[in-house]
Amino acid sequence: MSETPAPPVRIRPEVAATPAYRQGQTPTKPGFKLSSNENPFPPLPAVLDAIARRSAETNRYAAAGMPELRAELAGRFGVGPERVHLAAGSVAILYQLVQAVAGPGEEYVFAWPSFEAYPGLGLASGATPVPIPLTGDARHDLDAMADAIGDRTRAVLVCSPNNPTGPAVRREEFDRFMARVPADVLVVLDEAYREFVTDPDAVRGEDVLGAHPNLVVLRTFSKAYGLAALRIGYGVGDPSILSAAASVGIPLSVTGIAESAALVSLEPEARAANDERIARLAARRDALADELRGLGLAVPDAQGNFVWVPEGPADRGGVASAAGLAAAFAEAGTLVRPFAGHGVRISVGEPESVDEVVRVVRGHLARV
Ligand SMILES: Cc1ncc(COP(=O)(O)O)c(C=O)c1O
Repeated sequence: MSETPAPPVRIRPEVAATPAYRQGQTPTKPGFKLSSNENPFPPLPAVLDAIARRSAETNRYAAAGMPELRAELAGRFGVGPERVHLAAGSVAILYQLVQAVAGPGEEYVFAWPSFEAYPGLGLASGATPVPIPLTGDARHDLDAMADAIGDRTRAVLVCSPNNPTGPAVRREEFDRFMARVPADVLVVLDEAYREFVTDPDAVRGEDVLGAHPNLVVLRTFSKAYGLAALRIGYGVGDPSILSAAASVGIPLSVTGIAESAALVSLEPEARAANDERIARLAARRDALADELRGLGLAVPDAQGNFVWVPEGPADRGGVASAAGLAAAFAEAGTLVRPFAGHGVRISVGEPESVDEVVRVVRGHLARV
C-alpha cells in the first residue's frame, strides 16, 4: 500500500487530520453528471454575451464593492446596499462568517447530514463543529439544534432546503427556533436552493430578515442561475456582521466577469427565461421523486434541484447501501453522490436523465 509522503513543512495537526472538500466527480463514460446539484441548462445567450464583453477588460480589477450589483440585490430584499455582501460563491461567505464569530473553544451548530462543507468551516479559526442529526423524515431537528446552543455557541447554520435530503424548513418552525436563539448568536439561513422551493409554507429569507438582526441569509448564482463555474454568491444581513465577514475574506476574489454575468441574469428578460427553467426543473424533480417513491423508496419531500434516497431497511423504503447504489449508477455511466451510512443524493439533470435514473434504481433494487 502506498503511503502519503510526510509534508516538508509542519502542518497544523487539526488541518492535517481534515480531508479537503470533495467535489462531485466528472463522468468518465458518456452519461449524466448528477453529483453536484448543477443546473443542466446551458448559460443564457445574454449571459454568454455579457461574459464575452467583460472578457475584453480582464487586465483591470473589477470596481471596488460592485455597487450596481449590490444595489440590485438589495432592492430585491427591500434593504440598503450596505446589507449585501458578495463573495466568490456562497461557500466563501460561510467560511468567512464562521471564522469571524467562532474561535478556539467556541462552537457552531448545524444539522447533519447537510452541506458537506459545514464540518470544515471552523478549521481555520479553531472552532468546533456541532452536528445535530436530522429527524427521521430527513428534516432539521430545530428543537434539538436549539437545545445544543450553549455558552460556547457562536453560530447556527440552517440549510433550507437541506442539501442533501431535500425538505425546506417551514416558516412557523423557523420563527419558533429564532425565538429560542440568544440574540448574540449568529444564525445563517443558507438558501442556496431557495428558487426551486414550491412548498408555500417554507421559510423565505426576505420575510424573516427584518425581525432578526443576528440573521444572515445566503443565496447563490450557482444553482438556479446556472453560473456555478463563475463563482458568485451573496449574503444579506446586518452591515457590521457582513463587514466582519469581509475582514476575513480574501480581497478581490469576485471577478468582473462573474459580476457582469450576475447583473445580466437579473434583467427582466433573463429573469423570465430563468424562472421558466426553474419551473421546469422543479416539475422534473417532482416527477423523479414520484417515480422513485413508486419503486417503494422513502424519498423525502424534495424542495431543491435534487432528490434523496435514504440508506436503510427495504421495508422502510431504504436502499441497503448508498455506496452500492452509487456503484450501480457509475457502472451505467451516471454519477450521483453517496453519503456513507445515510443515503444517495441525485441531482435533477437533463430530461432524459429521469428515465435513466429510474431504470438504474429499478435494476439495482431487483438485484439486491
Ligand atoms: C447548501 C449549500 N450552500 C452553499 C453552497 C455553495 O454554493 P456556491 O459556493 O457555489 O455559491 C452549496 C453548494 O453546493 C450548497 O449546497
